[in-house]
Amino acid sequence: MLRGKRVVLGVCGGIAAYKAAELTRELIREGAEVRVVMTQNATRFVTPLTFQVLSGRRVLTDTFGDDGYDMNHIALADYAELMIIAPATANMVGKAASGIADDLLSTTVMTLRCPVLFCPAMNAAMYESPIVQDNLEKLRRAGFHVLEPAAGDLACGVSGKGRLPEISLIVTEAARLLSPQDLAGERILVTAGPTREPFDPVRFITNYSSGKMGYALAAAARRRGAEVVLVSGPVTLPPPYGVEAVMVESAREMFEKVMEHLERSTVIIKAAAVADYRPAVRSRGKIKKTKGPLILELERNPDIIAEVGKRKGDRILVGFAMESENLVENAAAKMKAKGMDFIVANDLNEEGAGFQHDTNKVRIIMNDGSIESLPLMDKLEVAHAILDRVKKLRRERKRDGS
Ligand code: PMT
Repeated sequence: MLRGKRVVLGVCGGIAAYKAAELTRELIREGAEVRVVMTQNATRFVTPLTFQVLSGRRVLTDTFGDDGYDMNHIALADYAELMIIAPATANMVGKAASGIADDLLSTTVMTLRCPVLFCPAMNAAMYESPIVQDNLEKLRRAGFHVLEPAAGDLACGVSGKGRLPEISLIVTEAARLLSPQDLAGERILVTAGPTREPFDPVRFITNYSSGKMGYALAAAARRRGAEVVLVSGPVTLPPPYGVEAVMVESAREMFEKVMEHLERSTVIIKAAAVADYRPAVRSRGKIKKTKGPLILELERNPDIIAEVGKRKGDRILVGFAMESENLVENAAAKMKAKGMDFIVANDLNEEGAGFQHDTNKVRIIMNDGSIESLPLMDKLEVAHAILDRVKKLRRERKRDGS
């Protein structure tokens, strides 16, 4: 995610400083080069040596080095593509918001031209104080990025909002800030996961979709600057940060929510595995076992994508197809019949493709008849490849004035 990116990590003096060590590891694991700057107070919680070992680089703690005034902040400004301040204490937030630059970290914040991400972590009362809130708002207005702290038990013994956000979330935000925002201005509606079609209070018909493909699309689109609404069937995945998640159960609920968000969407990507049929009757009580077979009558669910296709106007509509035979022919027929701009076909017979896997192997079939076969890739990479096609279509339409 961060291959070759140069990140400056600023560590302030708070108990969450120990988590910055894990953050350093994660950033490096994702391929970033990390230079750590610590405040003097931070060095009382964790030693610079810890960060030196983890980052493989000398840790900077002072504007004045062995040779006097080192101008480290200027060198860091030339070096950094992103600065993350984690944990950002109330003191550092206040200093940055007020233009105070009295140590290496605060001077560096003032000097940098790259994105700066503040990750506040502090006592809940401190975080809620109007002064800290005002300062955070000031930072946002000045173009700095701020990640909300998480709520939970705090080291000071109280419970509330003030925990350093999850490391994975900080890394995701870092990746977003380092990515080209080439989908900014798009509002992308993604559907994901299975639907559940109940026939009594404890049983339902469903399928094997895990939501991984749709969630990867939502995360990738958000990373590239799109506003994202994710309409999801029941899955165990947490919704990607910064995405508006709308959870549904049945195909009919998914239909309603998709229609509700259609008007404001510019792109619709339907990765959900929607049940085509639902039980005609839903028993109020649990159906009792009898000696004979149980016969369920099924009726058709709404075809969501076909309905979107009728109403799509100049929106870009992308469908998925899951087939066990004649993949290309069947997928292309679906695309044409339902007004899609292109369809992503995954083959049930391919190893590592389709349901549940972290990977997928797809063919992208365009409305003009062209077909592109992608190799087996991580679902996030597949998502980016799909979004590249969306971007290309948008560019072509702009050029043609349509
Ligand atoms: O969630 P994962 O475990 O990561 O798996 C991903 C996936 C295999 C579910 C995904 O990649 C995928 O292929 N999703 C579509 C599966 C499917 O339902 O295909 P289909 O051929 O039945 O439907 C074609 C298209 O119509 C799909 O875009 C589907 O969302 C849509 N559809 C289908 C039925 C229906 N009633 N309404 C719809 O909108």
